[in-house]
Amino acid sequence: MQKFEWTDSLSVGVPMIDVHHKELITAFNDLSNAIEQGTGASYIKKLLTFLKYFTEWHFEQEESCAAKHRCAIGETNQQAHHKFLQIFSDLRIEYRDSGASEAIARKAHAQLADWLVNHIMTIDTQIGTCVRHSLKNQSS
Ligand SMILES: [Fe+2]
Repeated sequence: MQKFEWTDSLSVGVPMIDVHHKELITAFNDLSNAIEQGTGASYIKKLLTFLKYFTEWHFEQEESCAAKHRCAIGETNQQAHHKFLQIFSDLRIEYRDSGASEAIARKAHAQLADWLVNHIMTIDTQIGTCVRHSLKNQSS
C-alpha cells in the first residue's frame, strides 16, 4: 500500500499550508496502514469525519491566502478543491448507503490520496511561490 513521505517537493514554503498538508498526508498514511492491517473498515469512519471538517477548513484558508496575495493560480486552485469535494461527497454518500467496509477504505485511498499529493505538487506549490513572492515584495 502506497505511503507518502514528506519531502521538499511537497513543501509549498508557507508554514500554515505545510502544516495542514502534513496532517492530511498523515491521515492517508494511517489509512494505508489500517488497510494493510485489515482495519480499514474501522478507520474509514474516522477518516471521513476528519476530512469533512479539515479539508473544508483547509481549502478555505488556502483560498483566502491565495486571494489575499492575488495569486493567478487561485481560481484553478478553487476549481480543483471543488472537484475534490465532489469526489469526497460521492464517497460519503456511498459510505452512508453501504456502511463501512475494506472496499470503501481502499476506494477512499485510491480516489483521494493520489489526488491530494498531485494537487499539492502541481497547484499548491504555485500558491506557495506566489505568496512568498508577494510577502517579499511587501517587505522590500
Ligand atoms: Fe489547494
